[in-house]
Amino acid sequence: MATEQGLPFGEKYHPAIKKLMELRRESLENIEEFWDKRARALIWFKYWDKVLDDSNPPFFRWFVGGVTNITVNALDRWIETPVKNKVAYYWEGEPGDTRVLSYFELWREVNRFAKVLKDLGIKPDDRVVIYMPMIPELPIAMLAAARIGAIHSVVFSGFSPKALADRIVDAKAKLLITADGYYRRGKVINLKKNADEGVRLAEEQGVKVEKVLVVKRGGLDLDVNMVEGRDYWYDELVKNVPYNTYVPPEPRKSDDVLFILYSSGTTGKPKGIMHSVGGYMVWTYWSFKWTWDPRPDDVMWTAADIGWITGHTYIVYAPLMHGMTNVMYEGAPDYPQPDRVWEIVEKYRVTILYTSPTAIRLFRKYGDEWVKKHDLSSLRLLGSVGEPINPDVWKWYYEVVGGGKTPIVDTWWQTETGAAMIAPVPGIALVPLKPGSATFPLPGVDADVVNDKGEPTKPGEKGYLVIKRPWPGMLIGLWGDPQRYIRTYWQRFSKPDEGVWIYYPADYAVKDEDGYIWMLGRADEVLNVAGHRLGTTEIEDAILAHPAVAEAAVVGIPDPIKGEVPLAVVVLREGYKPSKELEEEIKQTVRKILSPIAVPKRVLFVNKLPKTRSGKIMRRLIKAVATGAPLGDVSTLEDEASVEEIKRAWEEFK
Ligand code: PRX
Repeated sequence: MATEQGLPFGEKYHPAIKKLMELRRESLENIEEFWDKRARALIWFKYWDKVLDDSNPPFFRWFVGGVTNITVNALDRWIETPVKNKVAYYWEGEPGDTRVLSYFELWREVNRFAKVLKDLGIKPDDRVVIYMPMIPELPIAMLAAARIGAIHSVVFSGFSPKALADRIVDAKAKLLITADGYYRRGKVINLKKNADEGVRLAEEQGVKVEKVLVVKRGGLDLDVNMVEGRDYWYDELVKNVPYNTYVPPEPRKSDDVLFILYSSGTTGKPKGIMHSVGGYMVWTYWSFKWTWDPRPDDVMWTAADIGWITGHTYIVYAPLMHGMTNVMYEGAPDYPQPDRVWEIVEKYRVTILYTSPTAIRLFRKYGDEWVKKHDLSSLRLLGSVGEPINPDVWKWYYEVVGGGKTPIVDTWWQTETGAAMIAPVPGIALVPLKPGSATFPLPGVDADVVNDKGEPTKPGEKGYLVIKRPWPGMLIGLWGDPQRYIRTYWQRFSKPDEGVWIYYPADYAVKDEDGYIWMLGRADEVLNVAGHRLGTTEIEDAILAHPAVAEAAVVGIPDPIKGEVPLAVVVLREGYKPSKELEEEIKQTVRKILSPIAVPKRVLFVNKLPKTRSGKIMRRLIKAVATGAPLGDVSTLEDEASVEEIKRAWEEFK
């Protein structure tokens, strides 16, 4: 495999690129025929009347008239095959405790969990919020909800009670599924306490979850408060459900909602991204097949939390639809030692490792010795997701972890896209890789890079990534907010009068002369901290909750490990004075209200924020000061002294 940069690898030169381009051409020239054929690889109760309904753009609908249930494709289909006895999950807890679930056992547990949900009164389309750590009951709960046609909305267990409450309220959830606690960095976290607080805060906002189902992680001795008539131990309910319980999979329309997953946007309110039953199923199945080229003896470890889309698609739905064996790990990948991650790869003979540039940068910082202590010869593919991967980090991953043998599958995608959209596709043909480029769009993905006016850019010219045609895995909308869906994703480049609908992911990108796409980061006011999306407004809102704060502005600044970290600039209220203690308090407030990921690296105190004459905060200037970049056009700035002040504060703190 060639990894050199700049070779003339254009379509006409390389057979792998040629093969990929031929399939892409086929997929885009006749979308409906292409997907009609491929959707039949999956089991449906009824086939569709129409592959793509584009009569009400941008509310595109896939496989309309089709009826299915994704759990049949993830589980039931294996029960009559040898995969039945294959391992679905090797689970490992942070302290080293383990559990192994075969496909048969997983199927059985999903049926039993589904029965418990039904007995609790959960009906199709009810929203079930799942706030759970990385234990096997998390995928089991998701699959059980999907089996009975309920809509799951998983909230990352590291999120605060307030973040949980906001999501419960927005989705008007009927049930919350949680756990007593879990291990993180050697400490036991009492999750039920946070869940209780979340439920209380949601109630204050007028949404009362009827019931709370509490799973025991096992091995913990936690003081758990159970509210009579509201809270139920899962253990106690499931022990009365026989092992041979069969809950028929609820027939779901293809364009019904499979799940909601909240993601940060440019306003304070998170967006409830909705994925469909049929479109998500077909797209994740094929995208997975193309990017990972799954083989029967593979062991896949997606080292992500199921609370994010990466976990939904690559720990739960797609690998199960391919009958893959997965590793699922509870804790921090560098606990108790920096080589925990490599120890797990060695122990389970992992063949595909999928992680984020943030994690890779951290492992690289720990040093090669930690990697070299372990036999990693089982690895055959290494994946990267969540942010652009720096070429040097790419090379380290390729050479030190992969021993120069394992292609790096750098996958660009988003919560909204369901699965990988731009990535090398060894399942079709492995194109020559270039460190730092996610290479080419997958079949069915009509991606391009355009300038401000929406015109295709020339090679080397920075622009915006766009997707010019619908694809099956696209989000089907934002829960309860169709206008925001149109505004956020379709307004920027579409021309509705001409019938042109263009999806805008809000990422910068550039195409090189060989047609390779290089992702360059977010084009909106969303930060990417360690691969996690955080809105500047969201963090500012959390800072403003501190009584001392009058105004706040947040920007992202580069960080060698996390890629980007928040920097806060704050104006205090009368009577408060800047201090180290106050900075710490503000950080704690963000930690409590939002999550530890959102905590600013620094809080700078100033008397005035840089604003335009019309009062809009010029975050761009704060960023320029902190990164030493030129200030650019400051003609709309209300008061130049405000920038001088930030400069001074930054110099003092640096
Ligand atoms: O900016 C892009 C970045 O992550 C964003 C999506 O974040 P989220 O919805 O949380 O999903 C993360 C997991 C898919 C994108 O808009 N991003 C994701 N993957 C890459 C990336 N940036 C560059 N290269 C990638 N491979």
